Amino acid sequence: MKQVIREILGTVAFATRTEDPVTYVIAQPCVDLKDKACIEECPVDCIYEGQRMLYIQPDECVDCGACEPVCPVEAIYYEDDVPEQWSAYTAANVEFFDGIGSPGGASKVGLVPKDHPIVAALPPQQSEEH
Ligand code: F3S
Ligand code: F3S
Repeated sequence: MKQVIREILGTVAFATRTEDPVTYVIAQPCVDLKDKACIEECPVDCIYEGQRMLYIQPDECVDCGACEPVCPVEAIYYEDDVPEQWSAYTAANVEFFDGIGSPGGASKVGLVPKDHPIVAALPPQQSEEH
């Protein structure tokens, strides 16, 4: 009986852990800038380069937070802290990987010649802060 209870608890813990993972998100300030300081900090190489910005692979990100402070234009946010005006970027970081999946390393993939539609539709961005 104890064994059964342990197995049930283990299953519940696993289900809870994998459900709705929270991750880090790159938002609009990255567009047309692509500073790439974040890439150097990511221990799992999960920041992928699109045509006009970079995107974090949500299944590969281990939520360590190392990338967030090094971005010179504060483009990176913990998912729960994404500013309201850039809230669409949470889904954009997920949907960018439709058709790409989880390659397991951005450096071997290199530049992906596309962007999420909300990024592709933007006019050229000024990077006054940089
Ligand atoms: Fe973009 Fe900032 Fe990284 S500008 S490439 S998110 S360091
Ligand atoms: Fe990578 Fe950690 Fe950021 S896993 S994307 S450096 S939160």
